Amino acid sequence: MRDAAPQTIYLSDYTAFGWRVEQVSLHFTLAPSATRVRSRIAFAPNADAPAQPFFLHGEALTLISARIDGQDITPDVTAEGLTCTVPDSAFVFEAEVEIDPAGNTALEGLYMSNGMYCTQCEAEGFRKITYYPDRPDVMAVFDVTIEGDLPVLLSNGNPVSTAQGRAEWHDPWPKPAYLFALVAGDLVAHPGSFTTRSGREVALNLYVRPGDEGKCAFGMQALKDSMKWDEDVYAREYDLDLFNIVAVDDFNMGAMENKGLNIFNSSAVLASPETSTDMNFERIEAIIAHEYFHNWTGNRITCRDWFQLCLKEGLTVFRDSQFTADMRSAPVKRISDVIDLRARQFPEDQGPLAHPVRPDRFQEINNFYTATVYEKGAEVIRMLKTLVGDEAYAQAVQLYFDRHDGDAATIEDWLKVFEETTGRDLAQFKRWYTQAGTPRVSVAEDWADGTLTLTFTQSTAPSAASPDPQPQVIPIAVGLIAPDGAEVATTRVLEMTEATQRFAFDGLAQRPVASILRDFSAPVVLDHPDADPAHLLAHDTDPFTRWEAARTLARRSLLAQIRDGAAPDEAYLDGIHRVATDRSLDPATRALMMGAPGQSELAGVLAEHGETPDPMAIHAALEDMRAAMAARFGGDAMMLYAENTVTEAYAPDAAQSGQRALAGVMLSLMTRGDNGTAAQAQFDHADNMTQKLGALAQLITAGRGDAALAAFEDRWRDDRLVMDKWFGLQVARAQPDDAADVAQRLTAHPDFNWQNPNRFRAVFGTLAMHHAGFHHASGKGYALLADWLIKLDPLNPQTTARMCSAFQTWKRYDTERQKLMKTQIDRILATPGLSRDTTEMLTRIAG
Ligand code: PHE
Ligand code: ZN
Repeated sequence: MRDAAPQTIYLSDYTAFGWRVEQVSLHFTLAPSATRVRSRIAFAPNADAPAQPFFLHGEALTLISARIDGQDITPDVTAEGLTCTVPDSAFVFEAEVEIDPAGNTALEGLYMSNGMYCTQCEAEGFRKITYYPDRPDVMAVFDVTIEGDLPVLLSNGNPVSTAQGRAEWHDPWPKPAYLFALVAGDLVAHPGSFTTRSGREVALNLYVRPGDEGKCAFGMQALKDSMKWDEDVYAREYDLDLFNIVAVDDFNMGAMENKGLNIFNSSAVLASPETSTDMNFERIEAIIAHEYFHNWTGNRITCRDWFQLCLKEGLTVFRDSQFTADMRSAPVKRISDVIDLRARQFPEDQGPLAHPVRPDRFQEINNFYTATVYEKGAEVIRMLKTLVGDEAYAQAVQLYFDRHDGDAATIEDWLKVFEETTGRDLAQFKRWYTQAGTPRVSVAEDWADGTLTLTFTQSTAPSAASPDPQPQVIPIAVGLIAPDGAEVATTRVLEMTEATQRFAFDGLAQRPVASILRDFSAPVVLDHPDADPAHLLAHDTDPFTRWEAARTLARRSLLAQIRDGAAPDEAYLDGIHRVATDRSLDPATRALMMGAPGQSELAGVLAEHGETPDPMAIHAALEDMRAAMAARFGGDAMMLYAENTVTEAYAPDAAQSGQRALAGVMLSLMTRGDNGTAAQAQFDHADNMTQKLGALAQLITAGRGDAALAAFEDRWRDDRLVMDKWFGLQVARAQPDDAADVAQRLTAHPDFNWQNPNRFRAVFGTLAMHHAGFHHASGKGYALLADWLIKLDPLNPQTTARMCSAFQTWKRYDTERQKLMKTQIDRILATPGLSRDTTEMLTRIAG
């Protein structure tokens, strides 16, 4: 049930809970639609908290009985929880409730997925399991007993006893309720083990449904690599005898770091060469690392309240990005992260959903698991490390672990360890946490008497979240390249703190070319009209700015094509051809260099310049660019394709995936000339999903995908994860006129199980990302998405609300499209009983 006026919760209203929880015992008797949960919770008054009524969260629970110190009580129960009178001193609260896992379609709390019981408690799902102070600053030791007629019964911590139909678990580490987990089902374990640096043996298991055993080896290895890396790099050792991962098919997010019992969306853990692409493997390795790293950054040290979400998420994303950089290629990881940040975080930060990395208000916390909290949160930590240096960063982080182990901490606690370690005042730096918006940094060059002066100006557009943004601390990494291509000044980090600031480089023999924002040293938009990207593309020593030079040339060409109908820029095509054939560069980097900015990114650039993007013109410009590229490469495409065809057995490592990525780009150029002959050959002979799917994509583009699609469906109809790709690819590769129709047609397919978030996203997440198709002038893309969001909302508000962000850029477009989108936004908002999640998202988007 939803309150008439949704409540806003403010960071400034934080107060501690009036009691401490000394111990929790939970007893589950599992039954699909009538699970009984008995709880026994030992409370003691918290002297540090203000006086308050005793309130426990609880939603969608049927209260069977409640007792305090053994005496039956009759609490006041509302839709949000329970209140009762309690003694002044320590007491034991007991309750029995009944819940309905089979009827739980929101996938929050205890629910069922393919006959298996599983839980998702972050952020506020535990209150759907039993009455409890469901807030992260209440930490307790949990004992759990599970009774149920299923072979595998799991919870957090270490097993105490296991028998047929009954298991007992004890988790010695105090934890907030959001880290609770329970899994029960007919599962098989893929086992492993890890010896920690202090010599403790940890049993590892990856639990999957029978049939998925062959997709576990890679995830298990990634887990071991993560455990080792966290010891080597952060001196963090694992702290239980057992670490379990479970794969589930129905999951709203990627994965969840429950203590000792991580639960994963099966798409984020199951992998095999035949069914997974190189990108899948890389993502799985990163997510396994991410969830494992949470054991210290999130679990041992958790968040005081949900406003501090970035404390665990920003830091853990930063740590997993360091891990991937170490395991694979650091430049490739950095460039990929920037592509992702620009595609997902910049639109958020520059539109109506803009919020600070640490928000100060929310209605529904589920709506704040955003690219800003996660990815910009990680960028902020990267900047901090750049500013204080690697050594001070390492010291400060160790101080954080020592000081706050066992705490529910805040961003203030985090910054304080850096202030104490370095003696720096981080008051201004803190604005990165409290202020919304992407700073724009413009730079002007001045050359005189052997001195190059760079004048930087920063500004951030005001937003509803931050109406009056102040200057931020921006680390700007700069190097200088001489006209002959030699590097005359190696990377120096300029520390910008003012609105406008000058930095001089003197003693230069000739005017150099400035390479600015190396390694993407800050999450800003750089405006550098004096830049010489052609020179940097040829000579820059920094992999990021060299890649960025290619991007800048591509963007300039595309904007000229869109605005003035210009032809694709020859200088760009020459430069890119030179790079692609430069064997001194690794194939992965060459493949990245060849990528053009996406349609949505171009629309954003036009909008920033006060222009109205025309989705069809943007689409056409990119098509022209690719055609020109194919012509410029000619026979070299086939040569590079052959050169980068991997002949060894498939391995999902960085070297092979780089080669396949470059060969894939070449195949797309070849397809323009051969109508798909090479793609058909690749499709017929590929022994791995990367090449199969790459070829299938090209065949669809060439207009001859039907037979291959049918064969693919035939081969993979029983594999959900592969079928998600089959659904998604057809939408992704549809022509702009057809994308919405293809999506609609796919919803009639017998395997379109719309209640499964992965399948729903395969069709509608892909449609929303098909820029020209979603923004089709008829409005059919908008209407179709709205139809399905209205349908999904009552069942799964969380996934519905997340997908509403498809409409966040609506004000960029022409008045006709704005009207069409606004009509759909209003239509969804007018739906009776719309969830708090979706209401909040669309209200903010409508602005
Ligand atoms: N905490 C999870 C992660 O970052 C994400 C998540 C949030 C999963 C909410 C489920 C629900 O890894
Ligand atoms: Zn996380």
